[in-house]
Amino acid sequence: MNKVYCFYALHYLFVLNSVLCRRSLAPFDVRIDHHKVETTNDLIVNTPRPRFSWKIPVSDDALQRNIHQAAYQIQLESIKLTAIEKPFRWDSECILSSASIHVPYTNKNDLLPSTYYRFRIRIWTTNSNESSQWTDWIQFRTPIFDLYRYIINEDDLNWIGSTKINMNELRKEFTVPNTSPVKSAFAYVSGLGYYEFYLNGNKVDLSRKLDPGWTTYELRTLLVAYDITSNITIGTNAIGIKLGNGWYSQEQHGESAYGPPRLLFTLFITFMNGDEVKVFSDQTWTGREGSIKHDSVYNGEFYDSRNDRPNWARPGFNDSLSAWIMPDLLPSPVNMSLGGIIIVQDMPPIRAGNDALHFEVSTDEQQRSYLKAEELGDIKGARLADGGVLKPINMWSSDSGLIIFDLGQNMAGWCRIKFRGPPGYGVYIRHGETITLPDIATNRSARNIYTENLRAATASDTYVLRGDPAGEVYEPTFTVHGFRYLSVFAPPNALTKDDVECPFVHSETTLKGSFSTSNPVVNQIQHNIQWGQLSNIMSLPTDCPQRNERRGWLGDAALSVDEALYNFDLIKFYQNFLNLIVDVQRPDGQVPNFVPGNSYPADSNWGTALPTITWQVYRHYHDLLTLESYYNNVVQYVEYLHNVYNTTGLVNFPIRYGDWVPPPPQPMTNKHLITSFGFLHDVYLLINMSQALSRKEDTNTYTILYQKLAEEFHRVFFNSSINSYADGMQAAQALALALPGVVPANVRSAVVDKLVADIRQNENHVTTGIVSTAQIYPVLSDNGYHDLALELISSTTYPSYGYMFTNRFENATTIWELWNAPLTGPGMNSRNHIMYGSVGAWFYSHLAGIDLSSNVLTIRPRMASEIKKHLMSKLDCQLSTLYGRVHVSYTRNEQDTAPKSILLRVTIPPNVQARVMFEPLFPGAQCQTLTENKKTIWSSHTSMMNVREFIVEKDSSNELMVVHVGSGHYEFHASWQ
Ligand SMILES: *[C@@H]1O[C@H](CO)[C@@H](O)[C@H](O)[C@H]1NC(C)=O
Ligand SMILES: *[C@@H]1O[C@H](CO)[C@@H](O)[C@H](O)[C@H]1NC(C)=O
Ligand SMILES: *[C@@H]1O[C@H](CO)[C@@H](O)[C@H](O)[C@H]1NC(C)=O
Repeated sequence: MNKVYCFYALHYLFVLNSVLCRRSLAPFDVRIDHHKVETTNDLIVNTPRPRFSWKIPVSDDALQRNIHQAAYQIQLESIKLTAIEKPFRWDSECILSSASIHVPYTNKNDLLPSTYYRFRIRIWTTNSNESSQWTDWIQFRTPIFDLYRYIINEDDLNWIGSTKINMNELRKEFTVPNTSPVKSAFAYVSGLGYYEFYLNGNKVDLSRKLDPGWTTYELRTLLVAYDITSNITIGTNAIGIKLGNGWYSQEQHGESAYGPPRLLFTLFITFMNGDEVKVFSDQTWTGREGSIKHDSVYNGEFYDSRNDRPNWARPGFNDSLSAWIMPDLLPSPVNMSLGGIIIVQDMPPIRAGNDALHFEVSTDEQQRSYLKAEELGDIKGARLADGGVLKPINMWSSDSGLIIFDLGQNMAGWCRIKFRGPPGYGVYIRHGETITLPDIATNRSARNIYTENLRAATASDTYVLRGDPAGEVYEPTFTVHGFRYLSVFAPPNALTKDDVECPFVHSETTLKGSFSTSNPVVNQIQHNIQWGQLSNIMSLPTDCPQRNERRGWLGDAALSVDEALYNFDLIKFYQNFLNLIVDVQRPDGQVPNFVPGNSYPADSNWGTALPTITWQVYRHYHDLLTLESYYNNVVQYVEYLHNVYNTTGLVNFPIRYGDWVPPPPQPMTNKHLITSFGFLHDVYLLINMSQALSRKEDTNTYTILYQKLAEEFHRVFFNSSINSYADGMQAAQALALALPGVVPANVRSAVVDKLVADIRQNENHVTTGIVSTAQIYPVLSDNGYHDLALELISSTTYPSYGYMFTNRFENATTIWELWNAPLTGPGMNSRNHIMYGSVGAWFYSHLAGIDLSSNVLTIRPRMASEIKKHLMSKLDCQLSTLYGRVHVSYTRNEQDTAPKSILLRVTIPPNVQARVMFEPLFPGAQCQTLTENKKTIWSSHTSMMNVREFIVEKDSSNELMVVHVGSGHYEFHASWQ
């Protein structure tokens, strides 16, 4: 692009807009390759061709509207070069474009591996002829893109550990010569199952936990990249590594027998004169059994602090008390002949406490337009905004002599506990989600910690004191528990609540959605979903964090992903999970029920994770490249289902879990219908994907297939004697209605009526399992029964979400696995499962009405009708998109006077076009007037006011009012009669 042309074009835009000119602020919340620059310390870009995203700042001036980007410029250059490296600089020059997300790097030269770069961005917007300020220079680095190609001599890549002793502490000293200044020191570390990395006495990156991410190790083992340039000293340095069993040990795994923990360590130090020093894991290291005598994800840790050697990771350490021996060379966990790879972990790590969660939306009252704190209801549980470290809210002694602490919130993590006592004194800590109820039949006493539902997971930590007179704090290293209560058996000293604090532990992410309403039941459900979702992102999406399971179940991941992506920034996390799925996809296209794992073939509503997550990541991030990356895998998977279908038809489509765990005593509906739904759903998604990627042939092929399947679904499962699907249960009607084109027009209202009648017959309760519960709320809202959907979600009697926290047994602060948790079990009865959290997507998509799926944002809050407006008279929802924050906030008419009205505040970020839609507030209502900021923009008398800024349309088929807006803050008032 020619600079002069750019100037005139921009000048022209400026004249068009004729807005006061002043140099605007720099773009903010910059991302490179999906990494948020602001919250990433060591920015590692694992691609030679990164993409950039940024947000356009707006001033507080609420009148600034319709701001679009007109042009951008990116400059990128290499920095910190050695004497032998050539400088590199790329200037995009001014590019006339409104693109502000996933903007590609376009230089013909790829970025080089192991290099520091910096970049900066500025933009021009349609309301100013001057460029914005530049962002600060943002530094990042590239890792080694391919370790095997980089290390010419494969003999340097040694895995070390021991088959003789429990070798879980390893150390190595090395010398850095004083010949030339150090340019960079990059370490790549993998220790399986888990490891911690220390350098010169300190842990590198303190809040990182449970590295590396859990994978199918023989096919993919993750290496964590560190920049320790500023920590290397001239002379002697020392590395210390702690190893844990993690998911590598058999204890969790059951199905495959891996060996003892092992370490791969590489460090590349580059000097300004081009010299290099390399340090590898090999038999020059020494190792011993450290203080951790046993560690297990399920069973906790046994820690004897008398074996601590404070200086073990410092240079010059000399230990006369324990035997440090030479490690063995152990086989690589990776099976190269199966195509296995060792690759840099390219997603945020698991972190503990405050560092685990960042915020793009604020949860404080000032940001909420209409809802005051006292209107939200009394939310049980801890606030995300209070930081990720919980303190006990209560403690007591149980009748069996345990000290019990209640954190008031179910979660995943562990506790730091301060003890004071004699050396050798052992304390035993257990974790549980609930406490026991008195039970006369079994003579069980009340208010003890309840652990039966953890099954074989003991979830217990044992700590042996070293006897420090000043007291000592124990915090486990290589385990994680799912719990709300902890018990300490026979502590050496009288503990108080102040002696206990428990970090919330999960994959690092950013809160991007906040949702609150005038309905306290809905608010508590939202709370439980957010805590439940965070508890279940532990390098991969898990079903639960507490019992001997915690697997990457595909069904649970597919059901929760839409909700998860509304609430949290998880693109890298789900890309990693998609990699884990396609790693184990078989040549015929099938995938297993959970990964890592080999339970083939998946039930279709489990395998759907591959198409569903691919599609949802695209829908939430508008990232075509991600869609493209997994598209062929999705095609192969759908072809696998197609192939199966060719022999079974829908009537016998293979079944496994069906509509899992409906509320007892309800039976499960026809399982073939449930799995057929999964197949049709995926074919339909594939049509959408092929359209997004302009693959016309596929669109044709799968449209034809879908039409055939839709017709067959109806023919096979419709039961004309009862004018509804299968046995007439809710699940069958909801799933048929959720599939486009399945229910013919002439029976549609009968099917909807059947669904509604069945809900009413059950006194406004669902009878649905996990698959159909995810569909029933949007189906009701989209088929004229939004009021009923609101009644269902507001229910507090069994079975309902509300029952989970209003029953007489326990106050759930996360989402249960079973609708009837307290009355069943204990075998399969987690109190922190995320699969039923699926309803959280409907909160954003229908209650707030934010639809992200097209290039034009749609805001269409679904309205309770006037007589049910007490169910939702106010709502406030903020959603941070890649363009900036969308804010939707409404309040219904407070007095019962005519005309009925709604006040709707909407904030649309720059560079976005939106349609704001107003639904009639009662059946047959007609819009009388529509005002914005007190100015009439439409009235039924004049049909259209002459307000240039707004295009207002009335949809005469359903009386919806539609206003087209650009960015800005709007305050609409719509009156209906
Ligand atoms: C490495 O250096 C950085 C910056 O000086 C410091 O914040 C960090 O704690 C150091 N890490 C270690 C392991 O010493
Ligand atoms: C299924 O059968 C149809 C013909 O009925 C055939 O065209 C198609 O290739 C088959 N698909 C698979 C995946 O086997
Ligand atoms: C649930 O919480 C309420 C306070 O909100 C409390 O009164 C009640 O005792 C709790 N129920 C149980 C079973 O803990």
